[in-house]
Amino acid sequence: MSTEHAHGSASAEVAARVERRWATIAVLIIVGMALLAAFAGIHRATMPQPRVETTDPSRIHLSGEFVESNLGSVLEANGSVTVRAIGQQYSFTPACIVVPADTPITLRATSADVVHGILIQGTNVNTMLVPGYISEQLMRFTKTGDYLMPCQEFCSFGHEGMWGKVKVIDKTEFADRAKGGGRLSCVGQ
Ligand code: CUA
Repeated sequence: MSTEHAHGSASAEVAARVERRWATIAVLIIVGMALLAAFAGIHRATMPQPRVETTDPSRIHLSGEFVESNLGSVLEANGSVTVRAIGQQYSFTPACIVVPADTPITLRATSADVVHGILIQGTNVNTMLVPGYISEQLMRFTKTGDYLMPCQEFCSFGHEGMWGKVKVIDKTEFADRAKGGGRLSCVGQ
């Protein structure tokens, strides 16, 4: 009886020690992830979207914000620019996005089919396009020039060929082109 009791308390001790060890590891993992989130938010200025916006991927071509005539870049009354784009297997619409330099830009995009991603090389613009949800990301370019925009989520066989381009042009040139109204893009240029 006494040996059984001693054995029981020894294994309870082992269990308590193992439990403390795993609890410590779990706390360290949580602290590590909090530090990573703080680093990404403060140092790299990448924030999660403040709100969730939904859309119906089976109807985006028919009506609402993402109909074809509304895609592209538009100069807003306050001087900022809004870019609307769609990702679908295996291209972006518009395939070439034109924006002005030194201007606050809001990118609003969604997917018409499966999960895609938009990444603008050399910048911190990087967001997933999830069918049913609108991804919004703020961006600003200090230099003019061309940036590659590959799809960064595997979206099936044509994924490797899914590339877009962002053309950053001079602010006054953009304002000139925006005078006629409508939506701007650099497709075919
Ligand atoms: Cu679209 Cu990968």
